[in-house]
Amino acid sequence: MGGLDTRDSTLDALEETLLNKSGDVPLALRFRALFSLKALGTEGNVRAIEIIAEGLKDDSALLKHELAYVLGQTRQEAAVVPLQLSLKNLSEDPMVRHEAAEALGALGDQGSLPLLREYLHDKEEVVRQTCELAIERIEWETSEKSKTEKIQKSAYTSIDPAPPLPLDGDEHDEKVEKLQQKLNDQSLSLFHRYRAMFRLRDIGTPAAIDALASGFSDPSALFRHEIAYVFGQLSHPHSVPALISVLRNTREESMVRHEAAEALGSVGTAECLPVLKEFSTDEEQVVRESCVVAVDMWEHENSGEVEYAVYAPKVEA
Ligand SMILES: [Fe+2]
Ligand SMILES: [Fe+2]
Repeated sequence: MGGLDTRDSTLDALEETLLNKSGDVPLALRFRALFSLKALGTEGNVRAIEIIAEGLKDDSALLKHELAYVLGQTRQEAAVVPLQLSLKNLSEDPMVRHEAAEALGALGDQGSLPLLREYLHDKEEVVRQTCELAIERIEWETSEKSKTEKIQKSAYTSIDPAPPLPLDGDEHDEKVEKLQQKLNDQSLSLFHRYRAMFRLRDIGTPAAIDALASGFSDPSALFRHEIAYVFGQLSHPHSVPALISVLRNTREESMVRHEAAEALGSVGTAECLPVLKEFSTDEEQVVRESCVVAVDMWEHENSGEVEYAVYAPKVEA
């Protein structure tokens, strides 16, 4: 077996790839290495967490924001400090700082509450709004309410910025309609509106997707990018027209267009590929890079290739 040796050399190889030690590793391959490291990190492999954290010094905002996201999903204490550093770094790209704040929320790290409160006044709206959500998420997780609410078990394993709204016994159609109202009601807290968003995701019907797409008219770029993220999770062909119009809209924020590109890559139907190829030369770096990665994902989805990950770690049970 020699389990440990294998794991060490696997980690060395993943480190080389993720951190682009040779200087010529294609971005798509780095994303695949991250996918493998995430699996190891989530199991509690501290070195995997450290390698991912080291990547936060890269200069691709796209890669860094993904690393921050992944760190937030690992449930590992070792992820906290590197994420705090990214949030505190005012010269860091706002998309990366947003993802770092969100990840601290996903980790449910109560020790980060004072820091998150500090950035409720950040000059970047996406950072301010994310801190607001992360604080509410951490507070919700430790609340009495969270223990009594009847929440339908989600088909998604992700730790989301807000839990879905609880079940309320409404009929299906009426439910979607009510949820859409909540989703778009700007007098409600962002957290509550996100809860409606994730409930709609879990319903997942074409009607729920239409309801979600109405959120693309919201004034908050953070909110719009989260709709695109949810569409990526759903990977339902019904969301494709809405996603394509977001990606095509060059006046839309690049953070939102990037998320639409990734979502199109996950949906992976034939109509997605030409659009993604078209925008792989976009003026905005994060849009361009997202399209390149999305094309890779598209090709993976349609190749019959079993593993997306490189050096798929052989994990012993
Ligand atoms: Fe995000
Ligand atoms: Fe993103």
